[in-house]
Amino acid sequence: MSRAAQVSGSIRRRLIGQLVLGSAVLAAVLVLLVINLARNVAQDTQDSILMASVTSILDTMTVRDGEISVDLPYAALSMLGNVSEDRVFYRILADGQLLTGYDDLPDPGAPGREGGYVTAPYAETEIRMATAERRLSVGGTPIMVTVSVAQTRQGLMQTLAQVSRVGGAVGVGFFVLAALLAVLTTQSGLRPLRDLAGAVSRRGPKDLRPVKGPVPQEMAPLVTSLNSFIDRLRYSLSRSEDFIAEAAHRVRTPLFTVRTQAEIALRRVERPENRAAIKEMIRALDESSRAAGQLLDHAMVTFRTDHLEKEKVRLDELAEELVDRLRPVADLRDIGLSTQSAGNPVVQGDAVLIENALRNVLDNAIKYSATDSDVAMRIGQQGGQSFIEVRDHAGGFPEGALHRMTERFARGDNAGGTVGSGLGLTIAREVLEAHGGRLTLENKGDGACVTLWFPAS
Ligand SMILES: Nc1ncnc2c1ncn2[C@@H]1O[C@H](COP(=O)(O)OP(=O)(O)OP(=O)(O)O)[C@@H](O)[C@H]1O
Ligand SMILES: [Mg+2]
Repeated sequence: MSRAAQVSGSIRRRLIGQLVLGSAVLAAVLVLLVINLARNVAQDTQDSILMASVTSILDTMTVRDGEISVDLPYAALSMLGNVSEDRVFYRILADGQLLTGYDDLPDPGAPGREGGYVTAPYAETEIRMATAERRLSVGGTPIMVTVSVAQTRQGLMQTLAQVSRVGGAVGVGFFVLAALLAVLTTQSGLRPLRDLAGAVSRRGPKDLRPVKGPVPQEMAPLVTSLNSFIDRLRYSLSRSEDFIAEAAHRVRTPLFTVRTQAEIALRRVERPENRAAIKEMIRALDESSRAAGQLLDHAMVTFRTDHLEKEKVRLDELAEELVDRLRPVADLRDIGLSTQSAGNPVVQGDAVLIENALRNVLDNAIKYSATDSDVAMRIGQQGGQSFIEVRDHAGGFPEGALHRMTERFARGDNAGGTVGSGLGLTIAREVLEAHGGRLTLENKGDGACVTLWFPAS
């Protein structure tokens, strides 16, 4: 019986979600940083060119014949014109009076002023203006000359828009890449967990070996507890198997003694009702000792299938030997045993177990057959698989209950008068499953046809 785990959330989804969110925040910060940096650099460049123009104009200003003379250096303004298509404006004031240039340029002391620079609306657009002052002495009177050079900001804005576009694209690219990496990293990070789950769930129901493969450090505690759990389970299973084997063994010997005594008593007793009672007693003893024997066998089979040791087994030889051993029992009831083999099938397996399985099947065929009938065994290969087929004329399995007959302690209606415990076919099935094969039950003609299938070796 397997119980599905109670699922709450998913490590994969959580990791991917957090990593993708982190990437998005990082990408946004990156884009903002790039745009901000670009704006500062572009503004600094424009500012320093504007200031260089202002300084060079200031440098050319002299006092000639008691007048301030301005010799506008063409180079100073062309420097600005070269940088972009932007328009350039200038203004020169002497003690606040316009000497030359555009009088309506914004006041250098307007709000937003920072270290001689100001950004202000002008001529239906926005300009950046640099301003510097110099004291000149005209006829002994100090006069303050103020030079301002301004430039529109379209070029700068265009550059910034371009940088923003590129920055945005880089940001989106970074985000996509980071998200992709997050998914890949999460997948590969969770792979050991998936591998472990796969390895454990692929195991057969009886595979109680510890988990051996190397696992990452973080999973070591999980694997250690899993292994110690498997250990405890194996120990308690083997204890119960041992217990059954021991109990069966202890019961069988005294049962045998009691049966012998009952047989001796039967010979001495004459009264029919006493004889019937003793016969009943002998039958009950037979049932008990058969059950004890089958339980013992079942425990042995369980133990050996847990530690399956494989060797080459020739099925025809194994069958012949078994038939020789069972012949006396069959002869007692005039049942003919025949074997027919083709192709010398050889399988990899535990001969003791295979023999036990076949003995249980043959034992059934003999037990459920009427006297004077035949049991035929066929050994061969088909479709790469090896098989041993046992057919009898005992009326077949009870219709409808066929699939149940390999379950523990299951006995059919037809088993009424026979001694048995319902473990024979269980043992045979478990042996075949441990070998990677299967046991099939069919009704053919007037009897049962039981086949032991072994995988190709
Ligand atoms: N060859 C057969 N022909 C008809 N019925 C069979 C045959 N083999 C098995 N059965 C039916 O299948 C049932 C289960 O068989 P199984 O060998 O597991 O138990 P059993 O023979 O009753 O007891 P035991 O454990 O002693 O073998 C039997 O009780 C019987 O009803
Ligand atoms: Mg049986």
